[in-house]
Amino acid sequence: MSARGRNGPHGPGRPDFDDDDDDDWGDFGGERDDLTDVPDGVRLQKVLAAAGVGSRRHCEELIGAGRVEVDGQTVRRFGARVDPERQVIRVDGKRIPSRQDVVYLAFNKPAKVLTAMSDDRGRRTITDFLGDRGAAGTGSAGGERLFHVGRLDYDTEGLMLLTNDGELAHRLAHPSYEVAKTYLADVPGPVPRDLGRRLATGIELEDGVAVADRFRVLEQAGSRALVEITLHEGRKHIVRRMLAEVGHPVSRLVRTTVGPVKLGNLRPGATRDLTTKEIGELYAAVGL
Ligand code: URA
Repeated sequence: MSARGRNGPHGPGRPDFDDDDDDDWGDFGGERDDLTDVPDGVRLQKVLAAAGVGSRRHCEELIGAGRVEVDGQTVRRFGARVDPERQVIRVDGKRIPSRQDVVYLAFNKPAKVLTAMSDDRGRRTITDFLGDRGAAGTGSAGGERLFHVGRLDYDTEGLMLLTNDGELAHRLAHPSYEVAKTYLADVPGPVPRDLGRRLATGIELEDGVAVADRFRVLEQAGSRALVEITLHEGRKHIVRRMLAEVGHPVSRLVRTTVGPVKLGNLRPGATRDLTTKEIGELYAAVGL
């Protein structure tokens, strides 16, 4: 699937249904379904295309192939009219972001930036990097504030998710849905061969045991090492505390993935819209 949305009148990255030409597609699928058309609704293929699923034609093919569900019901009619603000639409079982007012961003947080939208002590915050996307109550967030999903330390760099989808943000940050997050850490070397096993077995910290899902050494040069660690944990300073506890205090920490979303080559301080695929995978990771 391609990146969702276009630069329509509602702003970049957001679905735009204004080109609804109200053409009558009829029942091309040849097969009726029970979904009741929503009065003044938007045609399903237009909602799919505006959400970035693909071209209108591709979306019609998906509908015809029975790969699209609305509120749990497979819809094969091309002309079906739906409410993208309220109905849950899935393609191949993955929910698509159909609401027009919702924004999903990846942000590469630089070091020395506070994970907050404002700071009364004048430190730089996420808002300083968002331009008109970040002004609370205005901009492309459609009048709703953006939330940061979880936190990174002031000195930690890397991937943060920002959204005004409160339910998704809440679930992603909630311990019962903790998605895996991966970090790169600069630590003193050499790293002993059994360190991965120790981290996977669990490290006793003052607020309980912390366990790494994966650990590997990417580089060792002289007295420095670059390691990669993946965990489901969301506790404060968790990576720094775990690695300090095993004798490898972190000098630089960068988060590179959150669940299905990768930092990739996003520049420090830059944002990008999540793709429809990434959003669908985030929904799935938290049972939405
Ligand atoms: N673990 C840390 O120690 N710091 C972060 O910012 C994130 C995870």
